[in-house]
Amino acid sequence: MFSLSLLLLCVPLVSSMPRMHNHHVRTLDTAPLSGQYGSVNVGQYSLLNNLWGEHDAASGSQTSQITSMEGSTIAWTTNWTWTGGSQVKSFANIQLNTGINQQLSAFSSMPSAWQWSQSNTGAVVADVAYDLFTSDTAGGSNVNEIMIWLANVNSGPISAVYNAQGQAVPIVTNISLEGYTWNLYSGSNGYNQVYSFLLTSGIAESFQGDIYPFLSYLIDNEGMSSSQYLTTAQAGTEATSGTAIFTTSAYNLSIN
Ligand SMILES: *[C@@H]1O[C@H](CO)[C@@H](O)[C@H](O)[C@H]1NC(C)=O
Ligand SMILES: *[C@@H]1O[C@H](CO)[C@@H](O)[C@H](O)[C@H]1NC(C)=O
Ligand SMILES: *[C@@H]1O[C@H](CO)[C@@H](O)[C@H](O)[C@H]1NC(C)=O
Repeated sequence: MFSLSLLLLCVPLVSSMPRMHNHHVRTLDTAPLSGQYGSVNVGQYSLLNNLWGEHDAASGSQTSQITSMEGSTIAWTTNWTWTGGSQVKSFANIQLNTGINQQLSAFSSMPSAWQWSQSNTGAVVADVAYDLFTSDTAGGSNVNEIMIWLANVNSGPISAVYNAQGQAVPIVTNISLEGYTWNLYSGSNGYNQVYSFLLTSGIAESFQGDIYPFLSYLIDNEGMSSSQYLTTAQAGTEATSGTAIFTTSAYNLSIN
């Protein structure tokens, strides 16, 4: 869950379209991405294929592509298949590029909608999640990672404490936020603190709500500093093993 995708913040914008035809229509780049760090910029977002852990796989691949963009609402698909290893292989995601690198105290809402589905084949270990990072400085190294899991498929969060059965033990249970009930887990991934909000049951394939209350919960209850900078805001399918087709029919996120 240590995301190397920050490296991609430096990817230049795609070159502007030829001006031979003066159409006032945005040309959508729907080309499939399958390279380890393949990416494409669309409006305020980037689609990042992000196979950061593929070295842990015996074999596998992942392909992602944009399917539509309407206003600030984007759609994309990712298919992946991974065998071997027990670590995360990939995190295909949509990254928000507008409004980040502000201190948490400088904004107060992150409205989002995310309608998605994932068809899993065979023994799948995966999650579907928002993944945010904060830092002491704008664009600085990761201090906190905040994950909001909308699905847990035979996986589990990073945790400092496990029970005798090997299951992660939450630090807080039954937190009501944005219409769902969550357990909060805490631990280190070796690089940064990780807070993970997991649904107490079920999955949320049609999430609509504000992401900021998850941050304010940590500020109010877990000592996270509101002077931290939000450096990364991504959402996608985090794959460890198995085969799946992930489809997002509508996703949007903004910072206000
Ligand atoms: C994903 O879809 C592409 C076509 O877009 C196909 O070539 C590829 O084999 C698929 N990969 C997986 C892992 O399903
Ligand atoms: C985000 O998507 C939802 C659901 O598709 C939609 O109702 C909402 O208006 C969108 N928000 C923005 C800011 O486009
Ligand atoms: C959390 O909610 C569940 C379901 O209502 C309940 O069984 C459980 O006791 C609650 N846990 C705590 C610590 O209150």
